[in-house]
Amino acid sequence: MKGLILSGGKGTRLRPITYTSAKQLIPIANKPILFYCIEALKEAGIKDIGIVVGDTKEDVMNAVGNGSLWDISVTYIEQEKPAGLAHAVLISEDFLKDDPFVMYLGDNLILGGIKGLVKEFMETSPNCHILLSKVPNPSQFGVAELHNGKIVKLVEKPEKPKSDLALVGVYMFDSYIFDAVKNIKPSWRDELEITDAIQYLIDKGYNVQPHMVKGWWKDTGRLDDLLEANKMVLDTIATRIEGLVDDESRVDLKVVIEKGAEIIKSTIRGPVIIGKNSKIINSFIGPFTSIGNKVTVKGSEVEHSIILDGSSITDIRHRIEDSLIGKDVEVSKSPLKPKAYRFMLGDHSKVGVL
Ligand code: G1P
Repeated sequence: MKGLILSGGKGTRLRPITYTSAKQLIPIANKPILFYCIEALKEAGIKDIGIVVGDTKEDVMNAVGNGSLWDISVTYIEQEKPAGLAHAVLISEDFLKDDPFVMYLGDNLILGGIKGLVKEFMETSPNCHILLSKVPNPSQFGVAELHNGKIVKLVEKPEKPKSDLALVGVYMFDSYIFDAVKNIKPSWRDELEITDAIQYLIDKGYNVQPHMVKGWWKDTGRLDDLLEANKMVLDTIATRIEGLVDDESRVDLKVVIEKGAEIIKSTIRGPVIIGKNSKIINSFIGPFTSIGNKVTVKGSEVEHSIILDGSSITDIRHRIEDSLIGKDVEVSKSPLKPKAYRFMLGDHSKVGVL
């Protein structure tokens, strides 16, 4: 069994962060989303993994390398343009050959992993296994219509969804999928849709089995979803304090403080992770916050947010919430007169001021 992780795409809904980073490398609890996918595959016993990369290939290759970090073998497959998930399968045929495989979208996160699902797929050997999850907004996903437990129809992002069952971004296939991806036509958005390829398998009478995802699943394509994913993962961490917490600070509930981090005259109310060599001074860090490495928070309050490496937040009067702050960003109170907001923001930045 092989693994195929899709790590291309432009991540337009996460701009400006995705102007400088692959969306799959945005950290959740200080670890890139993509690493959770790799670990889920490895945990399911899959050690031969292809990663389909696009414009952000250098970024992804630098982060993952040859896979030795996980003791897996990684093969990179270049997709010249984002021509769809089924196109990604098409160009991966040389790598996948006749082996059954798990396709994992690199921005999807499933708590609890996929070990049991892979085992079931191997034991029952259908041609395809799809995962489904109930969602409140099905028209943003591929949607499955079931009849007596069997899939009758799959539609990609329907305007009027016939059910609330979304296709989760983890699929299992045998090599018949190549017949399908070679025979479908591009969709209205000019992409070869994996949803259409699976519909092709159904129409030709192949065995396509649905499986409900019982645990928590998220496609982290938007800020709200990222913050929720961060919350869910932080909820599972165990306290580990390797940095310094001074006598005047308080650390409550589940908190990870990495080596070299310093907590001075501050309150940290978990679940929270604070990365290596970060400094929290005279501040409050509230629940569901991930602070990266070498971050400084001084005289400020941060809650339910993700702050990436090297950033600093200084003397902000009101609490910062529901925020994603990129690398090496400075947010500070301006001492200059006249009193005014002073911004230097990248394209597509979003700022909410009081
Ligand atoms: C893709 C698939 C969609 C699926 C979703 C899951 O959508 O096309 O069928 O439900 O992933 O994350 P995308 O997020 O690429 O638009």
